[in-house]
Amino acid sequence: MSVTIRTLHKRKQDGEKFSVLTAYDACFSRLISDAGVDAILVGDSLGNVIQGQTSTVPVTLEQMAYHTECVARGNQGSLIIADVPFMGAATVERALETATALMQAGANMVKLEGSAWLADSIEILNRNGIPVCAHLGLTPQAVNALGGYRVQGKDDAGASELLEAAKTLDQAGAAMLLLECVPRELSARITREVSVPVIGIGAAPECDAQVLVMHDMLGISPGKPARFVKDFMAETGDIRAAFKAYDLAVKDGSFPADEHCF
Ligand code: KIV
Ligand code: NA
Repeated sequence: MSVTIRTLHKRKQDGEKFSVLTAYDACFSRLISDAGVDAILVGDSLGNVIQGQTSTVPVTLEQMAYHTECVARGNQGSLIIADVPFMGAATVERALETATALMQAGANMVKLEGSAWLADSIEILNRNGIPVCAHLGLTPQAVNALGGYRVQGKDDAGASELLEAAKTLDQAGAAMLLLECVPRELSARITREVSVPVIGIGAAPECDAQVLVMHDMLGISPGKPARFVKDFMAETGDIRAAFKAYDLAVKDGSFPADEHCF
């Protein structure tokens, strides 16, 4: 049975967690969905792990659509979320065009990076039958404006701005939120105070779901891993087992642990 947006909303109501991993091709998409991972994110992190770029800024809509098609062919029933790339939601018109291409490539939902200002795009996309996940906190497409990959919402002003943005987008009709590199306490509070599921990465075990970049959790990304990464390959020694161990650890609440949070 395919995972839908309704399935995942019901999980939050029932207090059950769900798991998300990135994939960019048919083969890994199949393994990840076979392992029981509920949603697959075709992340623009493909700029880093597939293309070898130093940020996600160079990734194009054409590339996102291509990888979404590849993932959709391998998928065995997980919900497919596709990233709107850099500048893809700069205007409401752009957001509509970009989301159209990604949905027609096989996505079930699009993810937009930003803040409260995404509300207009979310409303129009919803009206046209496109569910939206709003990505808040550390938004990597804005790395040049943020001055690096840093934890967001650390001071009181930043924290209340983030909380307000989350509530605004919940009310605007976002189908999900994603928090990246947001302090644990604030992430837990946002998760409690919005109606829709919250996916965390570098956020909190209290979030309704977790996501990791597949290459990170297999321990094959170059360089020093981020604090929030756990290498599930190290303890299993097998790719299929690593995906299953991740899914289980998210669902039983053992990942993330304190050491993965800010
Ligand atoms: O592109 C990506 O993989 C992402 C996740 C890290 C949340 O946006
Ligand atoms: Na992304």
